[in-house]
Amino acid sequence: MRFEIIRTENYEKMSLFAAQKMITKVKENPRSVLGLATGNTPVGLYKYLILDYKTTGTSYKEVRTVNLDEYIGLDRDNKNSYFTFMRKRLFNHIDVKLHHTSIPNGVAPNLEEETVRYDKYIQKIGGIDIQILGIGHNGHIGFNEPGTSFKSRTHVVTLAESTRNANARYFNNIDEVPTHAVTMGIQSIMDSKEIILLASGTSKAEVIKRLVYGEITEEFPASVLRSHKKATIIADQAALQLI
Ligand code: GLP
Repeated sequence: MRFEIIRTENYEKMSLFAAQKMITKVKENPRSVLGLATGNTPVGLYKYLILDYKTTGTSYKEVRTVNLDEYIGLDRDNKNSYFTFMRKRLFNHIDVKLHHTSIPNGVAPNLEEETVRYDKYIQKIGGIDIQILGIGHNGHIGFNEPGTSFKSRTHVVTLAESTRNANARYFNNIDEVPTHAVTMGIQSIMDSKEIILLASGTSKAEVIKRLVYGEITEEFPASVLRSHKKATIIADQAALQLI
């Protein structure tokens, strides 16, 4: 096992620790490229970035951000799009320039072109300095479901039923949950210079156990992180209870 594990007492401390790492990175290099994630887990991290911005003024004017994924078929201003999520949870509250933020376009007329464009854009801006990840209960990262090739680049995916069910809580009913998404591929994620995977709560304990002790296999996408040169798990005690 090559990744480092940081164990925190609770969700708040996990979020604060991760925020401090990101802030240090931005202070060291104000032109950093930050890879961002959605889901519940990173919300606390974003809260602490905003708090730090408001109290100490860390500037994001030169920072660029790229997000992992987006649903297909939801307009950008749909309340459940990741575009809306990121504006509400982070971008509207710090001084990042909106044209420096990038999320795959899930309503692009040609999705194949969009996936190619997205990888090219990441390369053009110099690659991701630090990528934040959450983890799905089946080990997905971004929306890379079990069975996705470790060599994959940004691509269109069919969401696993378990993923749609898990995300149904944000929608009125399961039928409204999109069936497809665009996600950064596993290789696109692995090309990041540094990766931080966040996990919190008892419901993530099994998946973290498998990540730490299980085999490295495409059937469990997050396991690829074990072969990354600089990956850290920052998780709370509840998520690490089986470690
Ligand atoms: C979604 C996202 C993932 C996220 C995962 C876990 O499916 N596409 O990027 O890591 O859910 O979400 P949560 O943090 O809410 O548990």
